[in-house]
Amino acid sequence: MYYRRNMQVKIYGLRGCCFGIANMILVKRMRETLYSALLLQDISFFDGETVGDLTSRLGSDCQQVSRVIGNDLNLIMRNVLQGTGALIYLLVLSWPLGLCTLLICFTLAAVMMVYGLYQKKAAKLVQEFTASANEVAQETFSLMRTVRVYGTEGLELKRYNHWLDKLADISLRQSAAYGVWNLSFNTLYHSTQVIAVLVGGMYILAGHITAEKLTKFILYSEWLIYSTWWVGDNVSSLMQSVGASEKVFQLMDLLPSDQFISKGMMFQKLLGHIEFVNVSFQYPSRATVPVLQRINLSIRPGEVVAIVGLSGSGKSTLVNLLLRLYEPTNGQIFIDGIPLRELDIKCLRGKIGFVGQEPKLFRMDISSNIKYGCLRNIKQEEIERAAKQAYAHDFITLLPNGYNTLVDDDLLSGGQKQRIAIARAILRDPTILILDEATSALDAESEHNVKGVLRAVRSDSSTKRTVIVIAHRLSTIQAADRIVVMDGGKIIEMGSHSELLHKDGLYARLTRKQTDALV
Ligand SMILES: Nc1ncnc2c1ncn2[C@@H]1O[C@H](COP(=O)(O)OP(=O)(O)OP(=O)(O)O)[C@@H](O)[C@H]1O
Ligand SMILES: [Mg+2]
Repeated sequence: MYYRRNMQVKIYGLRGCCFGIANMILVKRMRETLYSALLLQDISFFDGETVGDLTSRLGSDCQQVSRVIGNDLNLIMRNVLQGTGALIYLLVLSWPLGLCTLLICFTLAAVMMVYGLYQKKAAKLVQEFTASANEVAQETFSLMRTVRVYGTEGLELKRYNHWLDKLADISLRQSAAYGVWNLSFNTLYHSTQVIAVLVGGMYILAGHITAEKLTKFILYSEWLIYSTWWVGDNVSSLMQSVGASEKVFQLMDLLPSDQFISKGMMFQKLLGHIEFVNVSFQYPSRATVPVLQRINLSIRPGEVVAIVGLSGSGKSTLVNLLLRLYEPTNGQIFIDGIPLRELDIKCLRGKIGFVGQEPKLFRMDISSNIKYGCLRNIKQEEIERAAKQAYAHDFITLLPNGYNTLVDDDLLSGGQKQRIAIARAILRDPTILILDEATSALDAESEHNVKGVLRAVRSDSSTKRTVIVIAHRLSTIQAADRIVVMDGGKIIEMGSHSELLHKDGLYARLTRKQTDALV
């Protein structure tokens, strides 16, 4: 007896261990698959999703799905086998009584299905509400400074509580449904016993079965009902996992962006000739608002072109198309005469240095931030040379750990981040350099940084670069070969600084305004 129990404990332990390992592998694989599917989505996909929601899918949702294998499937299998055995035995003992019990089991199964479907729906809502709560928390933490300055802690707590209330409400309903399910089970369970005693008693009186058989019958029917209950209970939690996993599987099934599927043309050397031909564009998330309209622009290799215009005129969007973050709705972009779509995107991006309007840094040391994305082996001297060109070296050496200082987005000023981003772009030794001047850094520092880079580009005749500068401070770009003026998604003027002043259009007006503001 002791030996048997000991064996049983060992077998349960072994089974639990195997399921535990399978569970761990499943969660890991799911997270890997989901993360790599998300990383390869179009940028427009991220315009429609929130960070909180996506991280919630990666975190708790994947964990929830693993319950399918770790717990529920295991128990369902065991109870189905036990129940089937009991049913066969019951039918052999007395088929009319066996059929009665089977009928009760079917009723139980029907209630169980309804309950399971409800749980599936509820689980989906729980996941959605949890994701929304995460989203609020994530947003609040990342905008903590704004929250503190505006004193909106209470408001943010209210926003978070709104989702917590919804979660509590759904949990309450789940508990109520669980109560109803248990009540049905108990009623049906007791009905079986009553039926067995009544009908069985009559059978005994009629001499069809013996009292011993009836006792066995009652015991086995109890076993059958309990197995059905266990299956029901586990199916409902299985349904919860299925409900929670629906969005995870939907996301996992997303095809990677076209850019990663199609094999583009590789090239050794890029001259840096850029041509926009009749390019129009609207963002997929706002498909009715035209952002760029019939843009025609040709930039020669080595030319320094500045793009200016009022806020919202489409300057950054133009650059987004050149970086192929979005595809034009109409028209084409050519690089060295080859349509952008036909070039190998990785190869092309390797030749482009880009400093975004609001540069963001990774939570890693400064050296790693500067060499981020560089595939070749980079020496420390190269990093420092790039930092010097970007006017970043001096302030970096003043930091406690110099180039090894751990930074993230909050630990440096806007201008310092911009300079590190410029160093990152220069280190790639790009053929096309794109600088989107920070709107937030509309100060002499930003102007100094951008001007410095332009000077360095001009003075270094060994490397020819095509440069596109989006400038908010017009004095930054007076030395550009050509200035392109945009308004409402169109190019309205083009020429050198003096030509445009002479023309007395928008550029001249903007220049006058900025000069007046400075006086
Ligand atoms: N991801 C996006 N989804 C939808 N619309 C967008 C998106 N990004 C920008 N827009 C819209 O496109 C228009 C042009 O924006 P863009 O960022 O190109 O302007 P900009 O000229 O760079 O302005 P700024 O000088 O302020 O940087 C704006 O009306 C903006 O609201
Ligand atoms: Mg912009």
